[in-house]
Amino acid sequence: MTSLTAAHAADLVAALLFILSLAGLSQHRTSRAGVVYGIAGMALALVATVVVASRSISAGAVALILVAMALGAAIGLWRARRVEMTQMPELIAVLHSFVGLAAVLVGWNSYLEVERHGAAQTAVAADLLTIHHAEVFIGIFIGAVTFTGSIVAYLKLSAKIASRPLVLPGKNALNLGALGAFLALTVWFTASPGLGLMVAVTVLALLLGWHLVASIGGGDMPVVVSMLNSYSGWAAAAAGFLLDNDLLIVTGALVGSSGAYLSYIMCRAMNRSFLSVIAGGFGIEAPSGGDAEQGEHQEIRAREAAELLAAAKSVIITPGYGMAVAQAQHPVADLTRRLRERGVEVRFGVHPVAGRLPGHMNVLLAEAKVPYDIVLEMDEINEDFADTSVVLVIGANDTVNPAALDDPASPIAGMPVLKVWEADRVVVFKRSMASGYAGVQNPLFFRDNTAMLFGDARQSVEQILQALDTTDPALTAQH
Ligand code: TAP
Repeated sequence: MTSLTAAHAADLVAALLFILSLAGLSQHRTSRAGVVYGIAGMALALVATVVVASRSISAGAVALILVAMALGAAIGLWRARRVEMTQMPELIAVLHSFVGLAAVLVGWNSYLEVERHGAAQTAVAADLLTIHHAEVFIGIFIGAVTFTGSIVAYLKLSAKIASRPLVLPGKNALNLGALGAFLALTVWFTASPGLGLMVAVTVLALLLGWHLVASIGGGDMPVVVSMLNSYSGWAAAAAGFLLDNDLLIVTGALVGSSGAYLSYIMCRAMNRSFLSVIAGGFGIEAPSGGDAEQGEHQEIRAREAAELLAAAKSVIITPGYGMAVAQAQHPVADLTRRLRERGVEVRFGVHPVAGRLPGHMNVLLAEAKVPYDIVLEMDEINEDFADTSVVLVIGANDTVNPAALDDPASPIAGMPVLKVWEADRVVVFKRSMASGYAGVQNPLFFRDNTAMLFGDARQSVEQILQALDTTDPALTAQH
């Protein structure tokens, strides 16, 4: 077998490994295997690409590629080791921006190469030149939109700029106008390619990417992250066409379509249409009403919460972003174990957009070894709150906000939420009365059956654990 055929076979195996990886990552139990398949597929793909490249470039150039790969791997390992779970969405946004930038560079390089050598001396056949020009243009467009869009997403997610939407006059017309201009430029470019048009499409797409994400409100960021994930896949696929790399096309299409599907799931979880997300506006910081408007809130101490739990028949824990910030998952897992040992039924209700990235809470709970079978999704548990003695809302806010269902004027109206208030008692773990990510006040905190346990979630749960030691086991024995 020649090294080229071997490389093609390696591409095929790598593509299969990526598909297995996606399948594995779709379930907790198999997610580790999914990661291993992904790593194996990527390692194989890198080796195959370098082997194929080494046939047509000098040894010096191969050495440069290897140095770049080693540098990239070192930086990647260093970042991955240091990143906090709560910073993952920002990291992902930055990584998407790299894919976008790479697609822009590949597009420019491919254009300049054809310009310099003429189609005859490049891999592009003369009759395919028009298609090549269109590929260059589309690749640069998707790549540049992904690049600046991801940078804005990074700045918003890391709170380096405000997450409120930028509202320029006629913003939808601006977006649509930019799309129309892109189509016109593409037709023009395929007919008579030129450097000016290349610069024009690059600048247009950079501005569109910036505007598109800047005009989306904080509450819609989950969709933005998965949308950019999808764009980065299509950008990679476009680069694959230009580089004549089948594996990149397949991988890009896998990332593009799975990102698009994830965006669909996120939109459904928030009861939003994809177009309305792109049109922006959701998550405009509403003036959060204080206690005066909402009524009085009640407070509870850790010891009283422990007594409540010890006497409970069933408990549902709904974790949110605050559990990640406080790194409370380990004491929460201990509390779960201790309550179950006492005969209390404990389950978790996980909202699809709880935390700051898809599956955020599931990852934390799995890390703390909470059994999978008691971690349920919103749809699986939402009708059970009414029969539940105590709900512990640990660092969640928007995902348990009844205003989403009761108040048509609320900025999060229509978003499905966990109906925690239907339980007998609700204990909310947070540090203050501050609003959540969408900046919307939460009437749950002022309900008669809700009590606030103020403080860092980790410390509060640890205090409850200590208090449980001294709580009369007879309380539990009563039910
Ligand atoms: P949020 O609405 O973000 O509220 C988190 C709460 O945790 C805050 O109210 C905060 O209150 C509390 N908190 C923070 N640090 C804490 C600590 N150390 N100890 C105790 N409490 C702490 O949470 P959620 O219910 O998980 O909702 C997620 C939100 O993020 C949604 O609006 C969603 O759309 C958005 N979002 C989600 C994603 C994905 S993909 N999941 C991505 C981007 C954005 P205090 O400050 O008073 O403590």
